[in-house]
Amino acid sequence: MAGLRPGRVVLGVSGGIAAYKACSVLRLLVEDGHEVRVVPTPAALRFVGEATWAALSRQPVTTDVWTDVHEVPHVSIGRSADLVVVAPATADLLARAAHGLADDLLTSTLLTAGCPVLMVPAMHTEMWRHPATRANVATLRERGVVVLEPAVGRLTGADSGPGRLPEPETIAAAARRLLSRGPAPADLAGRRVVISAGGTREPLDPVRYLGNRSSGRQGVALATSAVARGAGVTLVAAAMDVEPPAGVEIVRVETALELREAVLAAAGGADAVVMAAAVADFRPATVSPFKIKKDREAAADDGGAATSGVETFGAGEVAGAAGDPAGDAPTVRLVRNPDVLAELSARRPREQVVVGFAAETGDAEGDVLDHARRKFARKGCDLLVVNDVSGGRVFGERRTQVVLLRPDGSLTEVPEGTKEDVSDAVWDEVVKLLPPARGGRNDQGTAQRSDR
Ligand code: CTP
Repeated sequence: MAGLRPGRVVLGVSGGIAAYKACSVLRLLVEDGHEVRVVPTPAALRFVGEATWAALSRQPVTTDVWTDVHEVPHVSIGRSADLVVVAPATADLLARAAHGLADDLLTSTLLTAGCPVLMVPAMHTEMWRHPATRANVATLRERGVVVLEPAVGRLTGADSGPGRLPEPETIAAAARRLLSRGPAPADLAGRRVVISAGGTREPLDPVRYLGNRSSGRQGVALATSAVARGAGVTLVAAAMDVEPPAGVEIVRVETALELREAVLAAAGGADAVVMAAAVADFRPATVSPFKIKKDREAAADDGGAATSGVETFGAGEVAGAAGDPAGDAPTVRLVRNPDVLAELSARRPREQVVVGFAAETGDAEGDVLDHARRKFARKGCDLLVVNDVSGGRVFGERRTQVVLLRPDGSLTEVPEGTKEDVSDAVWDEVVKLLPPARGGRNDQGTAQRSDR
């Protein structure tokens, strides 16, 4: 790969069915020019044999510490590595690594490696969600190990959920990032950050709501990256298509009003608040306690428009309503939701950093940046992350491109990348804005807050 210096990579493989996919990861790492030494656990060899690893890597393959003892492999392999990738990392491997066991060559290598370590979990959903695994992942992340979130989808049997090994290309991309950037700096150690994620849902009745297309991916990526950089994270999660990462405190919310309450409560004492959630600007004026019926009389039976949250026009007024021969469609009256970001910015203590997101499209009144600048002035936050969402871009996608706007009007264009790359760029900026941490943890923290 252009611009990437070939290095020595250890590919640890633990004993899960996803071991076969590690063959593709190995290929990609070899194609990037790295010298890759595969260290499978004995259990991994029951899934993919030694000959496959040796042929694909063109390197010797050992699993125990008793082979080539004169080379002291349990120390030398880890010491000389530029990166260790463990894919798949089973629940057992994560547990052994978190507790510092050294009962095979791979776990011994993990204890001697001074380089970045990337773990890629794959297991059944129950195992991934088990508090023991969550705690082990949190411990590893606190120590600076980069633990990717597993993908969501079909697992070994008919079951599906979080636990799938991410695609080999995703793993190779994370490996490239670590080799070029080094491990995540622990520059948020000792900091507490609050992140809102996902899309709010504003109920109309017990079964229907007004929602939006936010997947929660950006907020989850921000949380994952903040944890990797040492922060204590509260994730205020509205509706999301993705699982929150391990090692964060999660507050589930549904509506904008619930999100406001949760974010304001969590923001007290936080060093930074990042509003990545797509918050509905309006909600139905009233919520029907009963399912709204399409036939008007039924709605009237519930107490009529005043309690059902809908107002109905006469037949003539909605004559154009498609698919409604009776012309009897209800109208929903909406009321404004509070602007949480503006409120946070107005109330924040002097040393707290508040970050907003802006999803914009260009129109007759200005381009994306014109709209973003006006929004920045309205919100009063410290940093605005601007997404161009023309044509439905960004929502649900893994890659994105953003511009970071500062109050003095200056901006940084973050090159197109994954939502994890964008998250790192956002935290890089936040770290610059934070006042120095007590005890001098944040040596880059020369406060640039003179604009406030
Ligand atoms: N936001 C908020 N409360 C709202 C609406 C938005 O806190 N009621 C936050 C979002 O979390 C985001 C930022 O404000 O960080 C911008 O959201 P966006 O939807 O782009 O802007 P709006 O304020 O809704 O403005 P508009 O819809 O007019 O573009």
